[in-house]
Amino acid sequence: MFEVPKLVDDLDVTIARYAIFGHPVGHSKSPLIHRAFAHQLAVALRYDAIDAAPGTLAAALARFAADGGVGANITLPLKAEAFAAARACSARAKRLEVANTLVWRGDHWFADNTDGEGLIRDIGERHRIDLRGRRVLMVGAGGAAQGVLPALLDAGVGKITITNRTPERADQLCDWIGDPVRVQTWYLDDLRRAGDFDAVINATSAGQSGAAVDLPFSIANPRTLAYDLSYGQAASGFLAWAKTAGCAYVLDGLGMLVEQAAAAFELWHGERPDTEPVYAQLIRESHG
Ligand code: ATR
Repeated sequence: MFEVPKLVDDLDVTIARYAIFGHPVGHSKSPLIHRAFAHQLAVALRYDAIDAAPGTLAAALARFAADGGVGANITLPLKAEAFAAARACSARAKRLEVANTLVWRGDHWFADNTDGEGLIRDIGERHRIDLRGRRVLMVGAGGAAQGVLPALLDAGVGKITITNRTPERADQLCDWIGDPVRVQTWYLDDLRRAGDFDAVINATSAGQSGAAVDLPFSIANPRTLAYDLSYGQAASGFLAWAKTAGCAYVLDGLGMLVEQAAAAFELWHGERPDTEPVYAQLIRESHG
């Protein structure tokens, strides 16, 4: 019989370091998720949460790499800075010009973006909802909306209507995506005349400040999927609206969070974790 080392400290090897960078970052569930994946697949790693003020990420990443850092997740508001700090990137990160995942390649950072994949996997694989050919309403036109639009189009949605408090931003996003046949904009004030949608995605940050976007019930029908890209308290207002509107599926972004993390984990470690137990744990915790 041989002794199995119980603690990482017992191992006579240098542990690869990973971290999530954000500002603030204390609330992040990424350390918990990645440690759970690592435990599941018997991967030895250290995963920290590192606060980096805007404008300081490139220096923080350089220090991290010098200190054994080989992978990083990036959250708000640093995703554009992360992209700028990388010397190479995936096609999807290049399209978005923002990154949520970095891989250290010996002498430079490689950038990727797994947010869109996370959303599509959560909707399609976990919840088994087929978005192909569907009419989607995107509420919000900031970074969160931009981050998932290409993946929605690649997943084969029929039409996306973007609506936003500031209509000019919706127009800008529509121009950026460059698919006038499938993507159009609509005034938020005039949504009552837009008909109903198969999916309504809340990509605004309104819930983070306790505010709510005023949406008419007429945009939902009894088969509608309502999805908030955020989770927890920030999603509660939109989810309450969706339940009252009678939507068939009412989901927050917890599943997307776990799926984008799994895609990052696979990029770093070459193995895809089973996301179900971690998702179940997060759901249990979020229900107190
Ligand atoms: P993120 O990267 O989280 O998307 P962002 O780029 O600042 O952050 O975008 C925030 C989005 O939430 C925007 O669409 C914003 O609308 P505006 O473009 O009009 O600012 C939207 N938003 C934030 N608070 C809102 C509120 N109280 N009501 C409606 N929309 C809101």
